[in-house]
Amino acid sequence: MPSISNKGALMPESPIRKLVPFAEKAIKKGKTIFHLNIGQPDIKTPEIALDAVKMHSLEILAYTRSEGSEAYRVKIANYYKKNNIDVNHEDIIVTTGGSEALLFAFGSIMDSDDEVIIPEPFYANYNGFSTSSGVKIVPVISKIEDNFALPPIEEFEKLITAKTKAILICNPGNPTGYLYSKDEIKKLAKLVKKHDLFLIADEVYREFTYDGHKHYSVMQEEDIEDHAIMIDSVSKRYSMCGARVGCLVSKNKEVIRTALKFAQARLSPPTFAQIASEAALDTPQQYFDEVIEEYVDRRNTLVKELKKIEGIKVAKPNGAFYCVAELPIKNADHFAQWLLEHFDVNNETVMVAPAAGFYSTPNVGLNQIRIAYVLKKESLIKAVNILKEALKIYKY
Ligand SMILES: Cc1ncc(COP(=O)(O)O)c(C=O)c1O
Repeated sequence: MPSISNKGALMPESPIRKLVPFAEKAIKKGKTIFHLNIGQPDIKTPEIALDAVKMHSLEILAYTRSEGSEAYRVKIANYYKKNNIDVNHEDIIVTTGGSEALLFAFGSIMDSDDEVIIPEPFYANYNGFSTSSGVKIVPVISKIEDNFALPPIEEFEKLITAKTKAILICNPGNPTGYLYSKDEIKKLAKLVKKHDLFLIADEVYREFTYDGHKHYSVMQEEDIEDHAIMIDSVSKRYSMCGARVGCLVSKNKEVIRTALKFAQARLSPPTFAQIASEAALDTPQQYFDEVIEEYVDRRNTLVKELKKIEGIKVAKPNGAFYCVAELPIKNADHFAQWLLEHFDVNNETVMVAPAAGFYSTPNVGLNQIRIAYVLKKESLIKAVNILKEALKIYKY
C-alpha cells in the first residue's frame, strides 16, 4: 500500500472530537449528555443574515473575487472603523472562516521550520495549522494562578531565535477566556518591533468582553502597522459557524499581496455565506447587548457552581465563552472518557474537553479541562452538579 505523508501522520487529532465515539455510545444507551466541550454557541443567528440568503436574487451561484466581494469588504472596513480600527477594504482578504485566515497568515509569513511563539494553553487547532504549514510552535506557558495573563515579556524574549517569525495571541482567549489589556498588547508591540517579528492576533471573540472591559486590538497600535496581522470570523460574533466566513486583515501590503496568492489558489470564499455575512453587519446593537448579558449570566453561574467543588481551581474569564478549570484528578483525558462510559446522574452525564490538547508542552495541563458555557443556565447548573458528584467517586 502506498504510504501517507509524514505531515499527515503528524497531524494532531482534535482533542475535542476524539471523545465523540464514547459520547455516541452513551447516547445509544439512552443517556443525555450536556455538551460543555464544544465552541458552537446555542445563540440564534441574526434573522437579517438568514433572510438575506432566503431572499437573494441570484441566477448563478458564481465565484466572488478571491479576496472576497468588494461590497462586503467595504462594509467590514466600516464595522472596524466603528471599533476604532482604521483599515480600508484593501487591507482585508475574506477567507473561508478564521481557520483559513490563519493558514494564509502562516503560509504568507513562514517557511518550513520557522518558529511561532504562542502563549499556551492555546486554541488546539493552532497545532494542526502549524503542522500543515511545516511551522514549529514554541510555547510560552501562561498559568491558571495568574488567570492566564500574558507571561512576562522576558519569557518571550528568551525564546526568540533566528528562526522566530511571529508571535501569535488569541484575544480574548480560547480556551482561557483571558482578555489582554492595552498594556499587555503594548508590551508585545514593543517586542515585535524590537525583534522585527509579526504579531498575529486571533480576535474572533472580540465582541465577547465582560464587566465593562474593552477589547484592544493589535490593529489599534500605531507603531506596528507592518507587523500586525488580525484574524477574524463571523462564526462566533453572529453565531454563524456554518457560514465559513472569516478574514485576514493587515496594513502590511506585502502580507496582503502574498495572502491574496493563497486566496487565488482556492478561487473564492463562499458566495452565499458572504451575502449572509454582509447582511449580518446590520445586526442591531441590541442583539449583542442581549447576547453579552446572557454570557455574563452563564459565566457567573458557571464559576459560582464550579467553586463549590472541593479542590478545584478556576480561572475567571473576562471574555469569549470558555473557562479552564483544574480538577483534583491526575488525568482529565481518562476522566472525560470515564464520565461518558461509566457515570451518570439520573441518566444524564457531561462531556468536557481535556485541556492537555490545548498545550504543546508535553504533560502540562493534564488535570485541567476546558468548559464552554454555550448552554442555558439551568443546564450549566445540572452539568456542574454532575461533575461534582462524579469527582466524589472517581478514584483514578
Ligand atoms: C480562537 C479561534 N480561532 C479561530 C477559530 C476558527 O473559527 P472559524 O474557522 O469557524 O472562523 C476558532 C473556532 O472555534 C477559535 O476558537
